[in-house]
Amino acid sequence: MSDQSQDPKKLNQNNGLASSGQTENEAESKPYVRFDSGQTAAKPRIIVMANQKGGVGKTTTAINLGTALAAVGERVLVLDLDPQGNASTGLGIDHSQRSRSSYHALTGDFPVAECIVPTAIPGLHVVPSSFDLSGAELELVDAPRRSFRLKDALSDFVNQGPVCGGDAKPISYVLIDCPPSLNLLTLNAMTAADAVLVPLQCEFFALEGLSQLMRTVNLVKSSLNRRLEIQGVVLTMYDARNNLSSQVAQDVRDHFGDKVYRTVIPRNVRVSEAPSHGKPALVYDYRCAGSQAYIKLASEIIRRENALRAA
Ligand SMILES: Nc1ncnc2c1ncn2[C@@H]1O[C@H](COP(=O)(O)OP(=O)(O)OP(=O)(O)O)[C@@H](O)[C@H]1O
Ligand SMILES: [Mg+2]
Repeated sequence: MSDQSQDPKKLNQNNGLASSGQTENEAESKPYVRFDSGQTAAKPRIIVMANQKGGVGKTTTAINLGTALAAVGERVLVLDLDPQGNASTGLGIDHSQRSRSSYHALTGDFPVAECIVPTAIPGLHVVPSSFDLSGAELELVDAPRRSFRLKDALSDFVNQGPVCGGDAKPISYVLIDCPPSLNLLTLNAMTAADAVLVPLQCEFFALEGLSQLMRTVNLVKSSLNRRLEIQGVVLTMYDARNNLSSQVAQDVRDHFGDKVYRTVIPRNVRVSEAPSHGKPALVYDYRCAGSQAYIKLASEIIRRENALRAA
């Protein structure tokens, strides 16, 4: 197998981290996050990857969309809110780096800024998940504002123009990876978010359960977070040789209209190999069809965001 791996730093040569020249000692002595309260940049857009169906590409999308956004100059924080911790593993975060995690942000033990760790990709940062998170739902059952814990933790953070590492630009996107369940963790993510991005696998039962997801989004919108919207639906694991894939894609487009991104993520073996190397597909094999699709998806999302902001 040829090694197509990219030096992560080459993904974005102009990135502040890559060119900051910050030494390891300097990085250790300074807090990883500083706040640029006086900055005029827009607040980060908070997007949650949600679908209670398992294995549809939520984590793969969080990792690779995050990497693609960072590669085109955005500053991205991936917040791993799944006790499985697949986004953290897929971004190469060792368990020894997870002593402060999304669990601590959720419980208020530590501010979000103190739970962030760097990835090998310039401009991409992570709040990792830890095993404690699997008990969070029970622990929070009687807690005040139990559905607002992440919102409370994140709003302090995003309102202050967070700048990570030796970077110059503040975070522009926060991507939250959710577990395959409409549980309290997912509810917290939706309450904290601006928008929901729904990865949908091109398979027979794709639309099953979607009405329940939409009901939950509407419920959150009416009771917990009025500004929540559907960011879009992204079709994943599309197999052009399979009639079923194109039929499902057509059904989803008939149902959701222009909420469905034009970019379709193909089923691609390089995408599925990448996490076992602790690398996003874009670093593992930048040229593969899956990586290129995530680059296109990132551009489509940025275009839509710009149109939204201009409207
Ligand atoms: N485009 C793709 N091509 C090939 N394999 C893929 C693709 N996208 C995801 N996969 C693989 O499919 C499996 C499920 O993907 P992923 O973990 O992203 O789904 P998920 O929705 O996050 O799952 P869970 O619900 O368990 O959190 C993984 O093994 C992943 O590597
Ligand atoms: Mg996942």
